Amino acid sequence: MSGSAPASWSRPAEDQLYQPEMAEIVATRSLTDSDRLFEIQLPGGKELGQTAGQFVQVSLFGFGEAPISVCSSPVRTDSFELCVRKVGGLTAALHSLREGDKVGIRGPYGNGFPLDCMEKMDCLVVAGGIGLAPLRSVIQTILARRDVYGRMIVLYGTRSPNDILFADEIAEWQEDPASQILVTVDHPTEGWEGNVGVVTTLFPKVEIDPANTVVVALVGPPVMYRSVLSDLTEIGVPDQQIFFSLERRMECGVGKCGHCQIDDRCVCVDGPVFSATDLKHMHESI
Ligand SMILES: Cc1cc2nc3c(=O)[nH]c(=O)nc-3n(C[C@H](O)[C@H](O)[C@H](O)COP(=O)(O)OP(=O)(O)OC[C@H]3O[C@@H](n4cnc5c(N)ncnc54)[C@H](O)[C@@H]3O)c2cc1C
Ligand code: FES
Repeated sequence: MSGSAPASWSRPAEDQLYQPEMAEIVATRSLTDSDRLFEIQLPGGKELGQTAGQFVQVSLFGFGEAPISVCSSPVRTDSFELCVRKVGGLTAALHSLREGDKVGIRGPYGNGFPLDCMEKMDCLVVAGGIGLAPLRSVIQTILARRDVYGRMIVLYGTRSPNDILFADEIAEWQEDPASQILVTVDHPTEGWEGNVGVVTTLFPKVEIDPANTVVVALVGPPVMYRSVLSDLTEIGVPDQQIFFSLERRMECGVGKCGHCQIDDRCVCVDGPVFSATDLKHMHESI
């Protein structure tokens, strides 16, 4: 499925490619010391029209522009959510914004996760750190259309218990009888009773039916992708049923500048989601 933008994506006219719309922050709350959630509305309540796994280019005058994944379900159309980790100038400036402030939005861009391939299949969601944000849109979509998908298994690894994103929602997801949600941390704090170790240490704790499972993953540095892929291959999940979302430095977001290029592919338009089959033919992709 990867390699092309979804049917719903229509490229803006050439002279409007870089023109953001000024959107309003209608709600915001802190998730951890370094992560903040923003609910955003386009002018006139216009729909963003994204699919799960797509991103927008967010801009702020004087600070620049960055790709941020939409982390809310496409089922919800009056507004959308972004989870922003504070790592540099732009993201720190975004963290200082509050309800009523405006940000520039371009997009949605990219291809998104293969929700059609996941229908009737078990869905294994593997998330590392901030990777849970884009995957939350997949999880919310599965839970909103529960009869369409098989079992949902979410494996989520993060640095410490204080870094767990969407902790309140994880507790709700765990109530779904057809889902299994496991969390692991690298550095436990006092009172942590869950798993300790990287996200792949959770694989032996769940039952995976390899032929009937589609995997979607966003797991941080390349070494984690290689480790997840190697474990899934050992379990017997075929490459064409494994989908990774990649993060690369981006500028234009629309396939023009080449900043995100891997071989002849642009991560911004041909990805960010690629099947493991595709990645094996893309030099140094993971
Ligand atoms: C498709 C896509 C989706 C993304 N979704 C999210 C999201 O949902 N939430 C979120 O918080 N961030 C997301 N990011 C990352 C985000 O775009 C960067 O963190 C942002 O550009 C940082 O801007 P800054 O000016 O604050 O920091 P900068 O000063 O630009 O960078 C700070 C540090 O982060 C590193 N960095 C910046 N961008 C990247 C990148 N793309 N990959 C690896 N390292 C990088 C820099 O090398 C530097 O060390 C996404 C990136 C991509 C490509
Ligand atoms: S960011 Fe410009 S080509 Fe992808």
